[in-house]
Amino acid sequence: MDIGFIGTGNVGKALAQLFVHAGHHVVMSHRHSVESLNPLIEKLGVNASAGTIADAVKQPLVVLAVPFNAVRELPAPFPGDPIILDVTNYFPNRDGNIMNLEKHEEATSQFVARQLQSKKVVKGFNTIAMARITAMPRPTGDPQRIAVPIAGDDKQAKNTVKDLIDQIGFDPYDLGGLADSLPAQSDGPLFISVGTKAEIAQRLKAAQAK
Ligand SMILES: NC(=O)c1ccc[n+]([C@@H]2O[C@H](COP(=O)([O-])OP(=O)(O)OC[C@H]3O[C@@H](n4cnc5c(N)ncnc54)[C@H](OP(=O)(O)O)[C@@H]3O)[C@@H](O)[C@H]2O)c1
Repeated sequence: MDIGFIGTGNVGKALAQLFVHAGHHVVMSHRHSVESLNPLIEKLGVNASAGTIADAVKQPLVVLAVPFNAVRELPAPFPGDPIILDVTNYFPNRDGNIMNLEKHEEATSQFVARQLQSKKVVKGFNTIAMARITAMPRPTGDPQRIAVPIAGDDKQAKNTVKDLIDQIGFDPYDLGGLADSLPAQSDGPLFISVGTKAEIAQRLKAAQAK
């Protein structure tokens, strides 16, 4: 499928590499000139092209690979109502105090969905450090296969992301709707904790028991 990326830092580079490797086409974008992306496109190969943010948001799936605060600066809603894969994390120290997020009155991906006026936001990959992710893929059924916690309100959008996760070598772990994604946030028990499906289930259970 065609996948647009906004942001070409740690997340953008790593996930684009995994999607390209699985046969998908990526349109990479950032807030600088399209030409400045040439070295990255050369590295990613023929399944990658460079574009503007306006080009990236036209793709059927758009990866938000930007700092949390940058989401407020993006042109919304995205044309064509794409699936939006929200990899962002909210850190009050870095991103400023947003009281309803700090108090968990709203999940950060619900905030993102509101900002971008989309019902098709799926949270995912935000719990995994990108430095190691390209070395983690394993085939379906491998007992050591890493699971990626995801959440989303739109079933079809979530299923598309689940398929992608499987295709690039991970098991999706469905937390439920966006309101159920608090355990995957930066102050939650699943944050930066790599594990199999069973290990994630165990961590959630332990956190609920506290
Ligand atoms: N690093 C990780 O391991 C990791 C893992 C999971 C989730 N995350 C989350 O994923 C998000 C991205 O992290 P990252 O490590 O990839 O960050 P990063 O390396 O700093 O890259 C961020 C990208 O977003 C671009 N950007 C910044 N402000 C922008 C704006 N206003 N409009 C458009 N583009 C903008 C940056 O462009 P410039 O070069 O112009 O700044 C850069 O291309 C963060 O929310 C982070 O918390 C990170």
